[in-house]
Amino acid sequence: MASEKGKVSYDDLAVRLDKIIRSGSQRKAITDFVCRDLRKIPHYTWVGIYAVDGSDLVLQSWSGPSATQHTRIPVGAGICGAAIAERSTVVVPDVDRDPRYLQCFLNTRSEIVVPILRDGTPVAEIDIDSDRVDAFTPTDREFLESVASELGTIL
Ligand code: SME
Repeated sequence: MASEKGKVSYDDLAVRLDKIIRSGSQRKAITDFVCRDLRKIPHYTWVGIYAVDGSDLVLQSWSGPSATQHTRIPVGAGICGAAIAERSTVVVPDVDRDPRYLQCFLNTRSEIVVPILRDGTPVAEIDIDSDRVDAFTPTDREFLESVASELGTIL
């Protein structure tokens, strides 16, 4: 089984993630696992899952080289907030060119935020930073939307 960055396929990862999401484990254990596993994809530098808590997004789980200061983000702010407001994935190919961007890490160059919907209502989101410009392809989007859809069944 692949366990290092650069040695993982989206298909293998999708199968593993489906299993863990359906495992019946505690939600925090599942979101921790999902963040750790997603970060095996080489261009996923930092992976977090935020939950919607009233008018804020609260960081539940993360995996990456360092912690973010943005552990609570108003729903009206940032790329994170935009994805909730739009109820749709937001891909930012170059964070330096998007005025909505809230900086967490100096080396971040692009970002994708995928809302997790339950019965059409956003309950959480997956936030991924990459230190590569324009890192996120339609394949990433499709893959992450499928993971988000699975997570929506348990969050
Ligand atoms: N960049 C995000 C803030 C969260 S950090 O990336 C972890 C944003 O613009 O909402």
